[in-house]
Amino acid sequence: MKRIGVMTSGGDSSGMNAALRAVVRTALDHEVEVFGFLRGYSGVINKKYEVMDSKSVSGVIQRGGTILRSARCEEFKTDEGQERAVGNLRELGIDGVVVIGGDGSLRGANALSKKGIPVIGIPASIDNDIFGTDMSIGADSALNVIVDAVDMLKDTASSHDRAFIIEVMGRNCGYLAAMAAIACGAEVAIIPEITFDLDKIAERLYARYKEGRTNSIVLVAEGAASAYKIDEQLKGRIGYETRITVLGHLQRGGSPTVFDRILASRLGRNAVESLLQGESGKMVGQVRNRIVLTDLEEVLGTCKMVDLEMIELTDILGR
Ligand code: F6P
Repeated sequence: MKRIGVMTSGGDSSGMNAALRAVVRTALDHEVEVFGFLRGYSGVINKKYEVMDSKSVSGVIQRGGTILRSARCEEFKTDEGQERAVGNLRELGIDGVVVIGGDGSLRGANALSKKGIPVIGIPASIDNDIFGTDMSIGADSALNVIVDAVDMLKDTASSHDRAFIIEVMGRNCGYLAAMAAIACGAEVAIIPEITFDLDKIAERLYARYKEGRTNSIVLVAEGAASAYKIDEQLKGRIGYETRITVLGHLQRGGSPTVFDRILASRLGRNAVESLLQGESGKMVGQVRNRIVLTDLEEVLGTCKMVDLEMIELTDILGR
């Protein structure tokens, strides 16, 4: 391989820049040229790219977001869009591609690989819902943002004897809500993986109120319900006054944690070296601290759930 392409695609996550830096510098170390496509697959379809050198990724390891920009590209979901992308990659002399992104982006990577372009995916999504890796890039950083926010909300919650219903991201996955509940000492985590009973939750919160506990925190994953809906069902039944906070896109920003910087650096290097060794249609992931390759078909066909142990822990410790 003499020239590879790299892109960041889908919802951004903190640590994408660190992964990009590792991809670029590893490729250069192997004397392989790197084209950085702008705004994910739309950069490939519209031939928008930058030729990257070592300096173009200087000073980015600590920066959130992505210097290559990102997008969710509808056109690439069509066969015509994919054909156009493949044609452009061949015309540009790209021998292989590294895709940094979440579920939808890895689906795109699989499509490219099926059309004969060597591709390796790197999991990056705050949701941590990607099979084939214990953690996806950005999940730890988002979790730390949530924990900081909830710690602050607990100060005001306890001053006013209030319950806060806090909505966090996680389209189909309760990872962020469950892990933040453990780390923040929240009373309840409502996640899409588990059916919830609002009557029981209300009883539990009211019992706490009667015991004179000064505040309650309910974390809701957006994929399970909206904080507004939960609030409608709980207010007036739990003793506490309620307030709602939707953390929203705040969770996707900020400097990546040490964990995410190192994870991204390892995955970036291994993605390039896997491509150079002739691998394709696979994702690099970290499982029990080892870097492993998993077929994209398996990654995309397997549902990753929050560990049952973590779900039990939120329940036991929230009493
Ligand atoms: O997939 C990552 C994610 O942040 C989800 O948690 C969230 O539902 C979604 O992206 C939001 O997407 P957008 O930024 O396009 O609104």
